Amino acid sequence: MNQDILKKTVARLTNPPKGILAADESNNTCNKRFEKLSIPTTEEKRREYRELLITTPSIEMYISGIILFDETIRQSTKDGKSFTSILQSKGIDIGIKVDGGLEDFPSSLDEKITQGLEGLPERLKEYKTMGATFTKWRSVVNISDTLPTDACLRENADRMAKYALACQAEDIVPIIEPEVLLDGNHSIERCFEVTSHNLDILFSELSKQGVFIPGIILKTSMVISGKDNEVPIDPHKVADMTLKALQRHVPNDIGGIVFLSGGQPDEQATLHLNLMHNMGSLLWNLTFSFSRALQNPVLKHWSEKQDDIAGAQALLLQMAKINSQASMGQL
Ligand code: G3H
Repeated sequence: MNQDILKKTVARLTNPPKGILAADESNNTCNKRFEKLSIPTTEEKRREYRELLITTPSIEMYISGIILFDETIRQSTKDGKSFTSILQSKGIDIGIKVDGGLEDFPSSLDEKITQGLEGLPERLKEYKTMGATFTKWRSVVNISDTLPTDACLRENADRMAKYALACQAEDIVPIIEPEVLLDGNHSIERCFEVTSHNLDILFSELSKQGVFIPGIILKTSMVISGKDNEVPIDPHKVADMTLKALQRHVPNDIGGIVFLSGGQPDEQATLHLNLMHNMGSLLWNLTFSFSRALQNPVLKHWSEKQDDIAGAQALLLQMAKINSQASMGQL
């Protein structure tokens, strides 16, 4: 492992004024989003949409890296230029989702574990030849009165540590994404408790297995109440409790921290990020790695006016700019 390469990649990805665009929706997830907007769920439509994102003029001003799905990293523009060559020419780091999605956790049927370790070293070598400099692995944490179980958190942490080690062995930066889901009616306090506990288990396992912490990026959900909780969301409380969880339960020498948007309304995710940067100086780079909170308006516009590529791209640029400002507390 070359620690210097890893640290430099983390810095490129998370240094202000930039953040990461997550465009690594699996075909299933992408198709679900297309279906809602009556876009045909074909490989060609997914390619066209990703071409729109990747070729957005000047997007590199605000976006440091784009996470792709396996199908996308192999695709090209309609003019025959590979997506990877376009990203490299813009100085945007190429990321790739390498987990294999979720599977049932046998000991607790309401929970999921993330699969994908099998064959991972070989896949990483191939992605590296394609220019990938970072990867993503997502696990999910369900909150209820009895969940999550420690057994499930530990199994996911163990797999994440193995994933991270495999990436670092190839000098590829692993993004570790334990997403605490918004589903349910839990309070923000319960989310704080679960997020904190999960981070403790995760970082203890990463250290135990010898993961180089300055050479990883944590992609986390914000500390927020469940989407069915009726107490109105207080943005200052979200920002404050999220920072407290990160400050108390993430090692200070972590390379960088980025947020997923998790189904929060777009403006709310942006506002929370901005507020965090107005609460004093932080120990680590803290920016965005949104999918929906960057893409929602873009996809909607494109679904309504598929010929207006420039209009959809202008919206993506605008969303990226606003979130870049939020990542510096400048909104
Ligand atoms: O895995 C989820 C994505 O990387 C982030 O997506 O911002 O829509 O939650 P999101």
